[in-house]
Amino acid sequence: MGFSTIAIHAGNEPDTATGAVSVPIYQTSTYAQDALGVHKGYEYARTQNPTRAALEKNIAALEGAKFGYAFASGMSAIDACLKLVRGGDHVLLGDNTYGGTFRLFDKVLRDYGIEFDLVDATDITKVEQAFKQNTKMLFVETPTNPVMSVTDLKAVSEIAHANGAKVVCDNTFLSPYLQRPIEFGVDIVVHSTTKYLNGHSDSVGGFVALNDETDANRIQFIQNSIGAILSPFDSFLVLRGTKTLAVRMEAHDRNGRQVANFLAEHPKIQKVYYPGLASHPQHELAKQQQKGFGGMVSFETGSLENAKKVLESVKLCILGESLGGVESLISHPATMTHASVPLEKRNELGITDGLVRISVGIEDIEDIIEDLDQALS
Ligand SMILES: Cc1ncc(COP(=O)(O)O)c(C=O)c1O
Repeated sequence: MGFSTIAIHAGNEPDTATGAVSVPIYQTSTYAQDALGVHKGYEYARTQNPTRAALEKNIAALEGAKFGYAFASGMSAIDACLKLVRGGDHVLLGDNTYGGTFRLFDKVLRDYGIEFDLVDATDITKVEQAFKQNTKMLFVETPTNPVMSVTDLKAVSEIAHANGAKVVCDNTFLSPYLQRPIEFGVDIVVHSTTKYLNGHSDSVGGFVALNDETDANRIQFIQNSIGAILSPFDSFLVLRGTKTLAVRMEAHDRNGRQVANFLAEHPKIQKVYYPGLASHPQHELAKQQQKGFGGMVSFETGSLENAKKVLESVKLCILGESLGGVESLISHPATMTHASVPLEKRNELGITDGLVRISVGIEDIEDIIEDLDQALS
């Protein structure tokens, strides 16, 4: 079946009790048991909830995975994946990820003896050389947040597997509609469902999708043991969101390309980061690996002062963190999403004080461009 058919139907079977077409919000903490040890498959809502189960089936299907688990946030989903490694193990982390992912490694996991090194995941030779005897995982994001570098998922998966390591890919920026990492050999896909999967800026959540049954059982065990589960209401919202994922992503992609082209030709903009531009260093790879280029665009204004002027002059675009909602959101990575990345590293990656990131929404494109035009002038 096609992507939209799966998005609308997987996990969304009519309710067996009433026939309700929309999966009900099972807002309960526990379930009545018929007799001691006799129940309907549901004992306690941290462990099992039908609304969450429907969403888990849905997103797993969209990623082409056998198993899926919904978490309370993208960060708790990422943290659950990192619980597949132990103290003394080494993890390779792409050197440009969401700042919170870096912070988790740097300020939390380090205290539990998990070693990590940053690697430029766009450079296959560097990836190959970075593996150590105890490397158990490679964690990448592609395209990266916020400089939109693209990692060759097939190539890095082959290298990781040859070294006995698993590959985790954060697919938040494109969603399964525009990129399906498992098809390229990636073992585990993570999401902040807060972004495109939910799509309406009204829920925080995370997701882990994978095929390996042993790892899946472990992730489920971790989900239940730690308890960072997605609530029934949030599960309902994300399930509603994924039904329109294809049409939303088409619109984000269409608008993203136009905003990137507009910025690339604007005399006040020094550089535009968007894999859809022919000038992007991994444009050809992006064309092969992705179904589109998405709605995330970053651009260099030259200074903090210029960035501040743009960010404070927009009228339609909303100044704020996050991305992937129907409304255009504009942000300043250096002081917002990537403030926890050391200054030296930020400068090396291009996350300068003049860099502005826009999550292009699905408003009428003329209005978005007019807003950016007036803010730039
Ligand atoms: C690429 C990416 N991954 C993970 C996260 C973390 O997700 P959450 O905020 O839902 O915990 C974010 C948040 O911005 C993100 O942009």
